[in-house]
Amino acid sequence: MDWLEEELRKIKEQHLFRKRKLREGLKDFCSNDYLALRDHPEVKEEVIKAVKDYGLGSGASALVSGYTIHHKTLEEKLACFKEVPACLLFGSGYLANVGTIPVLVSEGDLILSDQLNHASIIDACRLSKAKVLVFPHLDYHHAQELLRENRRHYRRCLIVSDSVFSMDGDVAHLPTLLRLAQEYDCLLFLDEAHATGILGQRGKGIFEEFNLRWQENVILMGTLSKAVGSYGAFVCGSERIIDYLVNRARSFIFSTSLPPAICAGAKKALEIIEREPWRVQRVKDLAHKIYKELSKMGFSVKFHNTPILPILLYSEEKAISLSETLFEKGVFLQAIRYPTVPKGEARLRLTASLRYTEEDLEFLYATLKNRPIFP
Ligand SMILES: Cc1ncc(COP(=O)(O)O)c(C=O)c1O
Repeated sequence: MDWLEEELRKIKEQHLFRKRKLREGLKDFCSNDYLALRDHPEVKEEVIKAVKDYGLGSGASALVSGYTIHHKTLEEKLACFKEVPACLLFGSGYLANVGTIPVLVSEGDLILSDQLNHASIIDACRLSKAKVLVFPHLDYHHAQELLRENRRHYRRCLIVSDSVFSMDGDVAHLPTLLRLAQEYDCLLFLDEAHATGILGQRGKGIFEEFNLRWQENVILMGTLSKAVGSYGAFVCGSERIIDYLVNRARSFIFSTSLPPAICAGAKKALEIIEREPWRVQRVKDLAHKIYKELSKMGFSVKFHNTPILPILLYSEEKAISLSETLFEKGVFLQAIRYPTVPKGEARLRLTASLRYTEEDLEFLYATLKNRPIFP
């Protein structure tokens, strides 16, 4: 097993070694629980009720006997929330992407993918066996050039993009993507993992952000694990697309469905987002406030009116060193390094969350101010 030692040594040498860290006893400033819903009293109550009725696991995949009224009502709620005809639940965002994209395109088809798309999209594209052309991040002019040169050589074409990019917090330009999809007869797949509960005034996602309506050639994927505070994921689209996924998406067919209580909790969280849209605005205002404070301290931070606030350190070594220093002082702020972001673009991925109190923020600022090395 010498090769294992050797491989691990190489990872460590590049400052890319990862290990799990317990978060208990620390103040977590990097979760995706943007709207503080994961332990909302009403959510917990719903979950407890469902556990009492159904127990823990669903017992089987959805096509066997793992489909309950909690799954069905959550799918209906999500379709309604996203203003799209139909919805299908998946075990996680990763499973939704690797299950859906290879159903939409395969050998002989073309995928256009933004350079900063999430790893699960990259893996899904590889799995599909379609020809994948990657365009530079948000460079739609380049994407158009690729379509102009290549589209006619392929049967179907799928344009794929995150709605909110998970490590940068910036937002895809939906009107341009729709125009390209229309002009070149493409399907458009949008990953709304960080857009659901965040984009638009009511957190419905990228269509609300741009004041546009869903169109039939668009497939929306989203997760329940971020602003919704639960676990799992969903794909929304036309009835026909959803019927097709039910019959073809392998990560849906051959995987146990979500626990009913997880669905019940997620449904309650969506109801809270609808009832209290102030949460959606408040978390973005908070992100702006944190951004201004950190910029004043001299950090290189990005802000795009979403709760994701990457503090750029560039060097992997600096990012890991600062993260570890903060950790020792009680601040949990993970270093994000290659391959999650490109080499030389290491960062601390700070997020805004309604979980933070004023004291938490003062603690964060004071700890960052007293950092021993300036990045
Ligand atoms: C853009 C994006 N897509 C997909 C996923 C995967 O979602 P999940 O954590 O539910 O597997 C994530 C989460 O890390 C993400 O950020």
